[in-house]
Amino acid sequence: MRLYNIIYQLILYPLMVIVRHYYGLFLHVKERMLEQRQEKLLGIKTRGLYRQKEDVSLFGDETIYAPLKYSELFKMIEYLKVKESDIFFDLGCGSGRVIFALACHKIKKAIGVELRKTLVDRALTNQQAFSGDSSKVSIIHQDVATLELSDGTIIYTMGSLGWKTTEKMLESLKDDLQKNPRRIRVIVYELDRAHVIYERCDWLNHNDSINDTVLEVWENSQYRN
Ligand SMILES: C[S@@+](CC[C@H](N)C(=O)[O-])C[C@H]1O[C@@H](n2cnc3c(N)ncnc32)[C@H](O)[C@@H]1O
Repeated sequence: MRLYNIIYQLILYPLMVIVRHYYGLFLHVKERMLEQRQEKLLGIKTRGLYRQKEDVSLFGDETIYAPLKYSELFKMIEYLKVKESDIFFDLGCGSGRVIFALACHKIKKAIGVELRKTLVDRALTNQQAFSGDSSKVSIIHQDVATLELSDGTIIYTMGSLGWKTTEKMLESLKDDLQKNPRRIRVIVYELDRAHVIYERCDWLNHNDSINDTVLEVWENSQYRN
């Protein structure tokens, strides 16, 4: 037992730390290469963080910009199996990575809503350069808290977007569904314990988790498959 402890502490544990470190590095490099390839293919630039305070949201709870990884984005697209009738919303779209990737698929519309003007401008520049059908893409400079999600069938958002903003968005989505009943899927990147807000909505069910991601799928109860 003593010998095992010595071997573990001197050899196995340091080895495990090194392997974990290099595996993490390998995954990071792989993701960066995928990112470079995809941005080139799509003709867009959406990399990097943006944390500048500029337009302030109604509730002052806006989050920073950090794009979804392409590897997770592809898993989401594969999961969604979008149809020609789908209208996709990215709430807090930043420079538009998600909507441009979605617009490459059979979908009616991919709509990005963004609060920060700088990011909206980047998204509009991306729309000009986009190698796909840019007429399927709309970019709206607006606070999600004041938005009407009319006709949307898939709503995606990363994290809570700010708790109050998300609560307000869900209230107006509920109202909209009463006026215009339809199946709706809400895809939430689980950040800031966002699920707590969604769990409070008795009209939404947690339907699924997308494999190997932290993307959670919520669906309105009466239209659940
Ligand atoms: C974490 S980023 C996600 C970017 C993108 N959805 C993605 O997954 O690649 C969150 C974005 O939401 C925007 N945002 C935060 N609060 C917002 C609000 N109230 N209305 C509109 N956009 C908001 C931020 O400016 C930021 O670009």
